[in-house]
Amino acid sequence: MSTERLWWQDGVIYQIYPRSFQDSNGDGVGDLAGIESRLDYLATLGIEAVWISPFYPSPMADFGYDVADYTGVDPIFGTLTDFDHLIAAVHARGLKLIVDFVPNHSSDQHPWFRESKSSRDNPKRDWYLWRDPAPGGGYPNNWMSNFGGPGWTFDEATGQYYYHSFLKEQPDLNWHNPAVREAIYGAMRFWLDRGVDGFRMDVLWLLIKDAAFRDNLPNPEWRPGASSFWSVLPTYTADQPETHQIVAEMRSVLDHYPERVLIGEIYLDVHDLVRYYGADSLLTGAQMPFNFHLIQTEWNADRIAELIREYESALPAGAWPNWVMGNHDQSRVASRIGPLQARAAAMLLLTLRGTPTIYNGEELGMTNGRIAPDQVQDPAEKNQPGIGMGRDPERTPMLWDTSAGAGFTTGTPWLPLNPDRTRTNVATESADDRSMLTLYRRLLGLRREHPALHTGSIENIWTDKGVLVYTRALGDERFQILLNLTGDIQTVHCDPGHIVLTTILDGEGAPVGGPMVIESGEGLLIRLG
Ligand code: GLC
Repeated sequence: MSTERLWWQDGVIYQIYPRSFQDSNGDGVGDLAGIESRLDYLATLGIEAVWISPFYPSPMADFGYDVADYTGVDPIFGTLTDFDHLIAAVHARGLKLIVDFVPNHSSDQHPWFRESKSSRDNPKRDWYLWRDPAPGGGYPNNWMSNFGGPGWTFDEATGQYYYHSFLKEQPDLNWHNPAVREAIYGAMRFWLDRGVDGFRMDVLWLLIKDAAFRDNLPNPEWRPGASSFWSVLPTYTADQPETHQIVAEMRSVLDHYPERVLIGEIYLDVHDLVRYYGADSLLTGAQMPFNFHLIQTEWNADRIAELIREYESALPAGAWPNWVMGNHDQSRVASRIGPLQARAAAMLLLTLRGTPTIYNGEELGMTNGRIAPDQVQDPAEKNQPGIGMGRDPERTPMLWDTSAGAGFTTGTPWLPLNPDRTRTNVATESADDRSMLTLYRRLLGLRREHPALHTGSIENIWTDKGVLVYTRALGDERFQILLNLTGDIQTVHCDPGHIVLTTILDGEGAPVGGPMVIESGEGLLIRLG
């Protein structure tokens, strides 16, 4: 195994939700030219790679996660030429570009599905999951949709049901079919040949389903009022053994190109998650199965210390860790744990061992947007109103300045701008040396500058009175990080050294050692020795 370090290990990934990042033509929806116009911001922020959520041609039933052509650009986002300009501009700044890819399902408007649906004996019939009704009628089995309700939709014309893990407009591809695999790998090569540096694979753990279509097992913990998706366990619809073979195939597509990265969206417990690095010790799976456990774990020092230890010890030899704090499907960090703790979260994310992923706007401390009932866009909310499934709040436009359209658009934004935009925006925060953006810039700068913080080991993980403490070390360089995750002021012991950074951006350079008073949500980065 090579000991050479690669860009995706040392750098930080920044996720752009393209509808909401920067609009360049006044239609209220962000686009590729808009992203290009903001590259200087990203380069000076100190990130390494940009991951862009889907921009492919799409009817937008799930805002681009319903792909009607895997090798194009939707006109709302621009053209392939815009994409080529964007990738050249990204590379010219020394940054990398990762694209989202949605292999589990296409749009129902994709020509493959149109053909598949056209008749039972169409050659592409078997590209999707078609089944006869159950004997006596009704759904073929009890598989559900992630957006609520049964996962099966009946096609009158051909008298069969097709399965969709998400919307009925997102039919699942049949990954048991080798022709489907080849078609998707071909589309991956299309983007690799255009120079993309990697893929973030959508719902990778859901890709293949039980070939015998067995019923999922009932979920004894489900209660009415929760999403009907969870009324059964995903026994036969998720994390099937054959998935690992497909991930290895995808990886070998990438490995024909130098230094590309395969990232998988995978919501599984730590033990099952790390198997996606590859079933064998050769690590021939995804280089980064996304680790979402900071989002899912209770915000408590003991729980998080346990999580770090569990994850670190579960990693296969040579596997590189990664951490995600937010994304376009999850409530904003500052809304989940509050604005003070969001600062501690920033220090945690950027000082843990492993590649961090930042979701656009988190670096400003953006909170969830307020979406009135008549402003709802997300199908996850429309399908199951009022039970908290909606993702519009975390998808509101990026806030660049204090102008009417927040610098995002000159038109009417597709989702409302956040009410606190006069305080929370790039321009205002850039001029404020205590802002969240300043904190992110400092953390990103320190992480780049100090090998102990990007390459070093993580050790001495402990907690005291709700304060999380750990050390990052490489050679003579040792940093101790202390994070008060409680709602109260705490006094804990810290090793001798001096303060390099605090989350309140005060007190740098001060010598420390012994009892240390730490405010709620405060984090300290201390250079030991
Ligand atoms: C992933 C995406 C999410 C989308 C779903 C279906 O979870 O992150 O936004 O709705 O897949 O494609």
